[in-house]
Order: sequence, then C-alpha cells, then structure tokens
Amino acid sequence: FGKIGVIGAMKEEIEQFQQHMQDVRVTEKAKIQFTEGTLHGKSLVLCKSGVGKVNAAVTTQILIDTFGVEAIIFTGVAGAVDPELNVGDIVVSSESLQHDMDVTALGFPRGTIPYEETSLFVADESLRELAAQASRELFDGRVKVGRVLSGDQFIASRETVATLYHELQGACTEMEGAAVAQVSVMNAIPHVIIRSMSDKADGSAHVNFAEFTVQASENSYRIVDYMLKHL
Ligand code: ADE
Repeated sequence: FGKIGVIGAMKEEIEQFQQHMQDVRVTEKAKIQFTEGTLHGKSLVLCKSGVGKVNAAVTTQILIDTFGVEAIIFTGVAGAVDPELNVGDIVVSSESLQHDMDVTALGFPRGTIPYEETSLFVADESLRELAAQASRELFDGRVKVGRVLSGDQFIASRETVATLYHELQGACTEMEGAAVAQVSVMNAIPHVIIRSMSDKADGSAHVNFAEFTVQASENSYRIVDYMLKHL
C-alpha cells in the first residue's frame, strides 16, 4: 500500500501515534484534524474522527478523496460481546455490521440496510491476517478475528450485550467501525478494524471504560505499529 489512513475516535486512541510520527503536517477539514507524516518509513495520515458513525463516515471519505489513502486502519477500544473476551483482549474485524440499523417494522432483519447488496462489510484479508499475526505475537493469542458491531449507542447492559451476541454474533461493540468499513467498501479501499477491549458492555461498562481505555488504546496502537513495520 502507499499512503495509509489511521483513524481513532478519541484522543486516547491516537495519542501514541502522535508521539511517534515524524515529519508531521497538520491540516483541518470539516472540523477534523488530519496529521500527515511517517512512522517506520510508511506514509501515514492520522486522524481523530470523533465519536459515532457520522463522524467516522465523513472522516473516511475525506481520507480517501482529499488525502488519497490506499488503505484504512481503525484503531481503538470496544466493549466485549463474546463472553470469552476479557478486558485488554483484541478483536480484529473479519467483517462489521451496524447493529442499530433497524427496519424490522418493514420485515428486514435487524442490522440490514434496506435495498443494499450487503450490510456486512468484509475487512481486507491481508490486513486482517497481519493484524491477527501481530496480536498473536504481542499478546500471546489473546485475539479473536470476528464480527464488529457498530451503533450510535454506548452499550452498558447485560441483556443488550447478550442479545448482540446471540442475534448478531458479535465479537465486540463500538461506535464507528462499520461506518468506516461501509465507506471503505463503497470506495473499494481495503480496511481493517482493530479494537482492544476496554469493558464488557455490561452494567460495569462505564466504570471499566473510564479505567481501562488508556491501556486498551495502547494495546491497539502496538498492533498497528507492528503492522506498519511489516507492511
Ligand atoms: N467503546 C468501548 N466500550 C463500548 C461500549 N460498551 N459500547 C459502545 N462503544 C464502546
């Protein structure tokens, strides 16, 4: 790949990159800051999208149109949905889905975007493989390659998280990935989402999120760092 776009939603999710990037140049578009530079000799455009699917979608389209990125990596934290996952573990997206897309009243299954070819946005195989390899090497196998569920909701309920697991087969839940994935797929740009678990999306999620977001963000950073070295 040539230039690579790296997106995080929050400050904590991109701080490590900012500290290690070289030759940086910052520009702003649509109130989003884009930092061009290099890391391990790779050309990078780093940005903080802000929280939620709209922010994520706009950021992704700008990365493609204005900055000409050839691949997109999302880095950050998520709530674990698969009960086997613990705080600190890693999920690499095989695909992603918008869990809050709900047109069930018209007979469409939950998560289905009406009249589209697909609502499941598949990650790039080589990026996914490299991320999984990084997670295995750096985190001793605490990684699942699985489905990322995105929605404009912070999930903090045992019932909701159980439904996301059983109805939609999610590995983790967050608020941007599937929007980045959809825009990437619409533009035929390869992507992958990498998320480290900050919480279990249950009744303690808000407390755990506050406590573990910095550490989990660092885990995700280390994986992207490894990927950039090996791309
Ligand atoms: N990001 C981190 N934890 C989350 C949760 N429980 N729900 C949505 N997004 C998250």
